[in-house]
Parts: sequence; C-alpha cells; structure tokens
Amino acid sequence: MLDRIRELQKEIEERVVQSAEELEELRIKYLSKKGEISKLIEDFRNVSADQKKEIGAAVNTLKNFALDKIRVLKEGLEEQTTESRKIDLTLPGDPMKAGSRHPISIVKNEMLDIFKRLGFVVSEGPEIEDDWHVFSALNFPEEHPARDMQDTFFITRNPDVLLRTHTSSVQVHDMETMQPPIRTVTPGRVFRNEAISYRAHCMFHQIEGLYIDENVSFADLKQTLLFFAKELFGEKTEIRMRPSYFPFTEPSAEVDVSCSICGGKGCNVCKYTGWLEILGCGMVDPNVLEASGIDSKKYTGFAFGMGIERIAMLKFGINDLRLYFENDVRFLNQFEAAN
Ligand code: PHE
Repeated sequence: MLDRIRELQKEIEERVVQSAEELEELRIKYLSKKGEISKLIEDFRNVSADQKKEIGAAVNTLKNFALDKIRVLKEGLEEQTTESRKIDLTLPGDPMKAGSRHPISIVKNEMLDIFKRLGFVVSEGPEIEDDWHVFSALNFPEEHPARDMQDTFFITRNPDVLLRTHTSSVQVHDMETMQPPIRTVTPGRVFRNEAISYRAHCMFHQIEGLYIDENVSFADLKQTLLFFAKELFGEKTEIRMRPSYFPFTEPSAEVDVSCSICGGKGCNVCKYTGWLEILGCGMVDPNVLEASGIDSKKYTGFAFGMGIERIAMLKFGINDLRLYFENDVRFLNQFEAAN
C-alpha cells in the first residue's frame, strides 16, 4: 500500500492544468468520494494493526499534498486570467487614420482667411429664407425672372418660404442688425433649381462680401478684389472688370482673373482667352441700403459674391462639379488631412 501511495503522490506532483475544467477533473479523480484517495482510506480498514500508524500518516500526508497542489494550481489559473486582462499603458496605441478635409472646406477657409486679414468678420445666416431677405430687400422687382420657379425652390404651401439662392440674404440680415461700418464675409450653401451636370448643381456654396462705411468707393472694391486674387492665385495674378447687372448693385461688374493654369497664355481651362470669370460685384444700390434702414446719403458700400466650387475647381484642377457631393473616398482622400 505504501507503494501505491508513493505512486499517487508522484502522479499528482507531475500534473499541470490549463483550465478550471481540468482542475476540477483532477480534484474528482483524487479527492472525490470515489476518488483514488478515498479508495485508499477505505482500504485502510484492512491494514494490519502494526502498520496502521505508518500507513495512516502516509495517507494523510498524501491527502494534504493533493489539497495543497489543487490550491496552488487554482491560484496559478487565477493569476493567468488577471495577467491577461491587465492593460499595458506603455504599448503604442493603434494608429487611427485621420480623414481628409473636403476640398470645399479647404478653399473656403483659405478664402475667408484672406478677407479676415483685411478686417472682414465672418457672418452666417439661415438656408431657409423668406422672399424679403432673398429678393425684395435686394431690389428685385416683383416680376424679376430670378424669382421664377425655375431658379428658386419654393414651398408650395407658402411661397414666402424658400431656399436661399444666394448668400446676399445674409447681408440683408447684417444690414438690418448692424450699424456701419459693416465689413462681413458670408460663406454658405445656396440652392437653385438646376439640372445636375458636370458644371451645374442644385446645391453649391458661395462666399459673399459686404463693406459699408462713409466714403467707400469703387476703387476700394477693386483694390480689395485685386489683393484677394493675388493672395489666392499668386502674386502675378491680374484682374479685369467687365460691366454687368445685378438688381442690388449699381454700377455692377463681373471680375475675371488671369488664368492660373496657363498664366494668361491661353489653355483649354480658360478656353484660350487667358481669363477666368470668378465673381460678381458692385456698389450697393442706395435702394438696398434704405430698405434695411441705412442712410444712403451718409453711407456707401460695395458687395461681391462668388462660388466656392468654381474656385476649388481652378485651384485643384477638378473637372466635374458632381465629384464634390458624391462622397467617393478615392476623390476625397487626395486632399489635405484634417488635424
Ligand atoms: N448674389 C450674386 C449671385 O449670387 C453675386 C453678387 C453678390 C453680385 C454681391 C454682386 C454683389 O450671383
């Protein structure tokens, strides 16, 4: 019987376990009611009296040994699981891929920064507007074709509710709420009922500028736009102004910049003219100033407006307007990473 005890002790000593289930199996095999050690205790009854003391002690030692071993194995398992759960804060983090900024945002920010350097402040207004802010206050006669259903999205139930077709509406809000000197730039989305193609969309972005003070002249307008064009397209850029018409400005002009792609020599982007049309502008019509409660005898002002998509197209060589709004990451990934 002593041999059997030694054998079992050796077996138990050599056992390793990987899981709580294996440990339980081990306990059942040796320590349960039908386990090996219980069997020994049963056999103990048949041991002769002179051996009882020695064998009894050996069985006891074996039992304690088994209990100890199970306790040690159990502690080992517990340690392993907490060990694997511990977080090592010194490990480098998983790299997170930053998205890229949308080309419209990149160009918008660049344009706003140029005007901010000249002392303009950014002002924004609602995209859903009323007739007054989009048309009437801007000197659009009742029958003006720009109010036509073809250009403007109206709400059928209430023709006084519409999506703004230009951000000049924000300038009306500014004139109504601010006192001259007013110097604002207004970026934002505008909406026109146009068929979508590579060069037209029903939604696009504009930046408009407004400057109202005493003695503001056309020369101030020209110099502001020349500075803007040089900052945006490079020092060599020139501008030219052509007479135009807007209901809210008088006189009005359209502004071209020398083609930034061919340097004015002529290419397919500028249609071999050397010039690119980028914005509309003019001196604010006195009727517009008066409609918003500004004394047109005392104050004069200029305004200008341009599409951001068109300028981004020129800056990045983008040839299809629809790319801006399709959210194709292969297109978007090509621009400066956001940070
Ligand atoms: N609001 C005009 C447009 O959307 C642009 C413009 C603004 C022209 C200010 C002149 C002065 O086309």
